[in-house]
Amino acid sequence: MWEKTDIKEILFSEGQIKERAAELGAQISADYDEAPLLVALLRGSVPFLSELIKHIDLDIQYDFMDVTSYAGTESTGQIKILKDLDTPVRGRHVLLVEDIVDTGRTIKTVCEMLLHNGAKSVKIVTLLDKPARRTIGVNADYIGFSIDDLFVVGYGMDFNQRYRCLPYIGVLNDELYK
Ligand code: IMP
Ligand code: MG
Repeated sequence: MWEKTDIKEILFSEGQIKERAAELGAQISADYDEAPLLVALLRGSVPFLSELIKHIDLDIQYDFMDVTSYAGTESTGQIKILKDLDTPVRGRHVLLVEDIVDTGRTIKTVCEMLLHNGAKSVKIVTLLDKPARRTIGVNADYIGFSIDDLFVVGYGMDFNQRYRCLPYIGVLNDELYK
């Protein structure tokens, strides 16, 4: 199989991810009195969103945003909205759904935008967290797994748009970066 030569190591199996998503869903269900609007960031969060929503026992809705960092502005934290929400957030509790929080820039900027647009609260659920890479003071409220500073793919996460559809999270072989 092509994956066998591209993936060095499997960090989390499909079963482990599903089990963790169920735990997070139960926690989220217990924490909210009022059902939140889930805002998923395209495209990486889609497989995680699909699993998570099965386990949230509330009358939730979800919508999508697609944002990108401005090239060459490493430190400014500026992002460009490629696709905005269709759902108004004013007066609503929002739960942002991410695949991975790395420097924290994306999630922090989106949080501020949503609060600026009148969201009643904004919390973050992320499948993965890479705390060692954080440059912005932001932390997710719900974390699937914390990992070391490794570049991972699968379960929505890509390298040049590849590997998103793998059902597990793995580490790419080093020679594929070069
Ligand atoms: P941040 O703004 O630096 O936190 O970047 C978060 C985004 O970078 C994630 O939503 C991913 O799209 C991407 N990203 C960060 N680390 C990885 C990784 O290890 N594999 C794949 N994508 C990653
Ligand atoms: Mg992303």
